[in-house]
Amino acid sequence: MILAGGFGTRLRPLTLTCPKPLVPVANVPIIRRIVEKLPDDVDKVVLAVNYKLEQLRDYFAHNDVGREVVLVEERQPLGTAGAIKNVEAEVDGPFFVFNGDVLDSLDLASFRRFHEKRGGLGTISLWEVPDPRHFGVMEMDGERIVRFVEKPQTKEEAPSHLANAGTYLLEPEVFDFIPAGKAVSVERETFPALLQAGRRLHGFPFGGYWVDAGRPDTYLHANETVLHAAGRKVLLGPGTTHEAATFDDWAVVGARCRVGAGATIARSVLLDGVTVGARATVRDSIVGPGARVGDDAVLVECVVGEGAAIEKGLLLKNVKVDPAADAS
Ligand code: GTP
Repeated sequence: MILAGGFGTRLRPLTLTCPKPLVPVANVPIIRRIVEKLPDDVDKVVLAVNYKLEQLRDYFAHNDVGREVVLVEERQPLGTAGAIKNVEAEVDGPFFVFNGDVLDSLDLASFRRFHEKRGGLGTISLWEVPDPRHFGVMEMDGERIVRFVEKPQTKEEAPSHLANAGTYLLEPEVFDFIPAGKAVSVERETFPALLQAGRRLHGFPFGGYWVDAGRPDTYLHANETVLHAAGRKVLLGPGTTHEAATFDDWAVVGARCRVGAGATIARSVLLDGVTVGARATVRDSIVGPGARVGDDAVLVECVVGEGAAIEKGLLLKNVKVDPAADAS
């Protein structure tokens, strides 16, 4: 199952017009990247959805991902564990849980083999972080998790540098530990309750990459990481044209974009159908679908909403532009 119901507030204005799981990373919607790496014998994908459910439904109606996809609606956001409980009727065996905004190089086949060998009610993927203060951190006894510390205030308070990487493999018995119909957090409530009840949870550290695409800076980092993992620096979508533009460091350009003569795109993402005028500069920025950047405009550390227009010659630094707005 994929947790795909949050509002994605930190990724606004992109998420004002598109649910976060459908926001493309390196030109492929995040949720599609998650589904495509599932082991072949995963036969069903259950999405726990509330915000912008219709857009997600529409996407899967028009895009065959080779598996049965079921959307389960939450009338109100139930939190991560509440969302898991809410899909109970759709699940009849061990199941993976994914965050709809995380991309990583976790090898799901090894993860599953580890879980099957160790037993217990669940296995949690772990990612080593230099500074554990912003993460859910594990205290381990060998491969067993013995305590969860959510966002330790100081580095000293953190029992390890192993953070919850957001992918789980759970046994259906976990459902019995989640109260129905109310908001519950799996990280803060359910996992600690399982340990308290003497049930076993294991941790599975992995290497490679792990990126959370949930904030503008981490979203850019996610694009860069996926691009580099594919051995590329620049990605241009189908139907995109440019006239002697400069792509600096790395750049992701969606489908049907037009980049004008002498423009510079540096460490940035242009989503589908963006127009960038002649000699314009887009640096460390995200430009939403169908937005237009005028000639000679300069965007630095900006997030431009879908269909917005940036006046020619305008200089914007660290600005969020609403969808369909006219910035002049
Ligand atoms: P922010 O508003 O920017 O914090 O983003 P978010 O709402 O997506 O929250 P967060 O990044 O913490 O969520 C992590 C993952 O869990 C995302 O894939 C969300 O879609 C999902 N998620 C968060 N809360 C809920 C919920 O109440 N229900 C469901 N179904 N999914 C949720």
